[in-house]
Amino acid sequence: MFPWLAERDGQRYDDEASRRDGRCAASIDARVPRGMLRTMAPTTFDGTAGYLVAPELRDAVNVAIDLEKPLLIKGEPGTGKTRLAEAVAESIGAPLFVWNVKSTSKARDGLYLYDTVARLNDARFNDRDIRDIRQYIKYGPLGRALLSDERVVLLIDEIDKADMEFPNDLLHELDRMSFSVDETGETITAKKRPVVIITSNNEKELPDAFLRRCVFHFIAFPDEELMKDIVRVHQPDVEDKLLSSCLVRFYWLRKQPDIKKRPSTSELIDWIAALRRAGIPVERLEGEMPFVGLLLKKEADVEALVNVKTGKLRSIRQ
Ligand SMILES: Nc1ncnc2c1ncn2[C@@H]1O[C@H](COP(=O)(O)OP(=O)(O)OP(=O)(O)O)[C@@H](O)[C@H]1O
Ligand SMILES: [Mg+2]
Repeated sequence: MFPWLAERDGQRYDDEASRRDGRCAASIDARVPRGMLRTMAPTTFDGTAGYLVAPELRDAVNVAIDLEKPLLIKGEPGTGKTRLAEAVAESIGAPLFVWNVKSTSKARDGLYLYDTVARLNDARFNDRDIRDIRQYIKYGPLGRALLSDERVVLLIDEIDKADMEFPNDLLHELDRMSFSVDETGETITAKKRPVVIITSNNEKELPDAFLRRCVFHFIAFPDEELMKDIVRVHQPDVEDKLLSSCLVRFYWLRKQPDIKKRPSTSELIDWIAALRRAGIPVERLEGEMPFVGLLLKKEADVEALVNVKTGKLRSIRQ
């Protein structure tokens, strides 16, 4: 929990009951008018059976939902940024719209495209009435999210892949939750503001004006206890001894200074699955790291590991 979340008006709000009635989440932003705190919806997200959240992430999601601000999520690759949006959608029972951002993506693509080619073709080859331009407007994920009658979750995944203009061009739409279709003269405004979750792998800095509009959360790398639970979500019948042994080796590997691309949650899950599938006995992990290619994805990192003296590998035995 954010330290400043835990205390307000000299009182601590760190128990489950106060979190649930929204006091704790609301206290993140002192600028929220007091009257509004009473009308805020109760917090709703607490992870799902398939997605476990640390309390800090849970609070950030609920604050973003309550304040109706986009949630910007950063974190190492494989720490569950994309899956978070799926989990939030599942948890609040809302449909999920996904906008996978590419290096060539333009903000406008997420709203709508006007299919002039189809209209031209219809004009030349079909009997179709081409006067109604609305039939040639193809809405993108953001457009569809704003058109929806019900509250939806919109995931804008990997926003940092696009150029700097991309987030800047979305400011108006994210503020007002409305956009205009120039070709038809229509203005579309969301009936229910979508829950917007934006992920970034930190490839590019995001503009300040964009950051100001978001609730930001960095997914801290899970500690061993949480990681155990996360692995168990994916592999409920994993043996305790194997899991503990894998975790010791995994966290040891992440601490090695020469490893440049540190393995993450998804790599660990895959590695344990491979070990179990191949029936590797836990004892074999004492002196070697089978299927290391599932943990280390760069040649230089594999070499760095090979260079680690056998003594060091022995020192991580349980
Ligand atoms: N908290 C979690 N609970 C359950 N599974 C998790 C959690 N965090 C990560 N995982 C698992 O790790 C894998 C990677 O998750 P995801 O694709 O969401 O990561 P990401 O942060 O979006 O990665 P990238 O930056 O590479 O896109 C998924 O299989 C997901 O189920
Ligand atoms: Mg992702």
